[in-house]
Amino acid sequence: MSDTEAAQELMVLAEQASTCTACRLAETRTNVVFGEGSARAQVMFVGEGPGRNEDLQGLPFVGAAGQLLNRLLSEIGLERSDVYIANVVKCRPPGNRDPRPDEIAACKDYLAAQIRLIDPAVVMTLGNFATKLLLREERGITRLRGRAYPWWNRMVIPTFHPAAALRGSASVLASMQEDFALVKATLDGRSESSSISGAERPVEQLGLFG
Ligand code: URA
Ligand code: SF4
Repeated sequence: MSDTEAAQELMVLAEQASTCTACRLAETRTNVVFGEGSARAQVMFVGEGPGRNEDLQGLPFVGAAGQLLNRLLSEIGLERSDVYIANVVKCRPPGNRDPRPDEIAACKDYLAAQIRLIDPAVVMTLGNFATKLLLREERGITRLRGRAYPWWNRMVIPTFHPAAALRGSASVLASMQEDFALVKATLDGRSESSSISGAERPVEQLGLFG
């Protein structure tokens, strides 16, 4: 698929999502936050779900967590326009509660289509929800981070959610900086990868090739 076709298909999908009522989050959202960035990004970030600022502006990671994401990106020489940023659920859970399993299930085909169309070399999952959705792992982010996992001809690199670094200790931020450095190394083709048993399964469940 050409770059233009991928960009056009993403726009069509965003248009469809903008009126989606497939789960109860449609009732309380202001805007659907589909995603933002380059349709040909080499690296894609997947957060949890829109917060208040994101819901109001219709764009991902525009609040405090977004400022930290911007800083971590700039430390590895990337700008937001170089990457693509999306979330597990596209509508804000009221009061920023956790997204529920049925909401994640209702929304995940959008994310699968975004990954298929953008076709990034690296997907960085931010926090437990994105990491568990892609890797189908029981272990939490603290255990899983720090490595790159082969996943359907690309790498998934899990890290903490930026909000965890904002409310956590300096060591959370230091770990995130290590993980971002691993993203850079992987993009540069310098890193060692580790495999995870069953890592090929989740994409079928996401419907990526379905
Ligand atoms: N937190 C997220 O998980 N996603 C956003 O878009 C903003 C904050
Ligand atoms: Fe549709 Fe996803 Fe929004 Fe639910 S969260 S209404 S599935 S776009």
